[in-house]
Amino acid sequence: MQKPKGTRDLGPESMEVRKKVEEVMRDRCEGWGFREVDTPTFEHLELFTLKSGEEIIDEIYAFRDKSERELALRPEVTASVMRFYSDELRARPKPLKLYYFSNCFRYEQPQKGRYREFWQFGTETIGGDCSKTSAETIALACEILDSFGLEYDLHIGYLGVARGVLESEGVVGEDQDRLMSLIDKGDVDAIIDFLDGLSVSSDCRGVLVELIDLVGEGRDTVSQALDVLESYGFGEEGGFGLDNLSETLSYLESYGDVDYTLDLGIARGLEYYTGTVFEIYVPGLGAQNQVCGGGEYSIPQLMGENQFSTGFAFGFDRVVEAIKHQEIDLDIGPRLMAYIIPVSDEFRDEAVQILGRMRGSFPADIDLTGRGIGDQISHADSIGVRFAVIIGEREVENGTLSLKDMESGDQVELGIDEAVNKIMEEYESL
Ligand code: HAM
Repeated sequence: MQKPKGTRDLGPESMEVRKKVEEVMRDRCEGWGFREVDTPTFEHLELFTLKSGEEIIDEIYAFRDKSERELALRPEVTASVMRFYSDELRARPKPLKLYYFSNCFRYEQPQKGRYREFWQFGTETIGGDCSKTSAETIALACEILDSFGLEYDLHIGYLGVARGVLESEGVVGEDQDRLMSLIDKGDVDAIIDFLDGLSVSSDCRGVLVELIDLVGEGRDTVSQALDVLESYGFGEEGGFGLDNLSETLSYLESYGDVDYTLDLGIARGLEYYTGTVFEIYVPGLGAQNQVCGGGEYSIPQLMGENQFSTGFAFGFDRVVEAIKHQEIDLDIGPRLMAYIIPVSDEFRDEAVQILGRMRGSFPADIDLTGRGIGDQISHADSIGVRFAVIIGEREVENGTLSLKDMESGDQVELGIDEAVNKIMEEYESL
């Protein structure tokens, strides 16, 4: 039987790589003061229709359960974490720094790097000063990718400005969200058509089209954006919060050399974003090259008015793909350090005792077939064992083990303690 479209079976080799990637991500998040949370795989559909945007709603796996409740498999985790916050975590000290590693489901047309079941590794920071939190969030996303040695392009945007311009022209609610979604797609004709239908001023149209086209390096681009706003008569103080973006960028600089492109055309697909947003792309991955997306957001229905959070989510599968594509060696050691080979069933009792001792210190396994010694050694080789440990009459008599180094092919007879220590030392050095 075939697996459902857009899903994958993940074999042992894939899982070893994924575990390693997950371990590095977890280690970095915990090292930065984040703590892990988990939320249900399915939620009330309403949670996602609240503020996730039209695009994602079309892609939702929604269903009714046996009691006719409208439910949905989570398409992302931010809304769930905010629901959790609203239900139970509200009283915790702020900023509350949370991370998660969760499978998500979107009913999209599957292609390379785009699945119907995929994994997100993400963070959410609730509370805290917007600019400082945004800088910390972006810096962490970069540090995670840097710890793999990945090459990537970071794009930072600020959608507070487009929202601010629209707001000042009375374009609010669903109309504003719809426009943000068109901006996200970069569809200038559709943006103009939509604005025409809303009878906004020609200055509003002009300023938006110019702003979303503004791409540049460094903080100068923010000054250019302020000039554009001014030239169209939208020069209000702070440039609809663009000064927050400047502040975020200057905080970001203190984290070290973070290269970025400022791109005011980034609008993000989800509707809850309010201010600084960012996306990270890995060159060479094809159409689905966005490995991370995030920014500052608000879901007032869950978080309360004027409460902001900042977060990101890595498309975990895409990061794994990028590591493979850039041929990065994750240094995954041998899965099994020792494979115990009793020369015959006569020595099985001793062999199992040695095995038990080894399993307390490092991964070890034993033959379960009773096949001959030559076949057992070939099997040990085919499953990538580091040492074959042979136990026969001589070894039992001498209180020794014969250790075959499966990389060099060398074989030595060592006292039991010596043999166990040798394998352990090598294991610990991995
Ligand atoms: P998003 O951009 O919709 O943001 O998804 C985050 C990442 O998930 C994307 O950058 C992409 O790498 C990956 N992704 C999305 N769809 C798929 C798919 N069908 N197959 C494989 N990977 C996919 C969010 O979901 C926000 N909740 C991020 C966030 C957290 N913002 C604030 N906090």
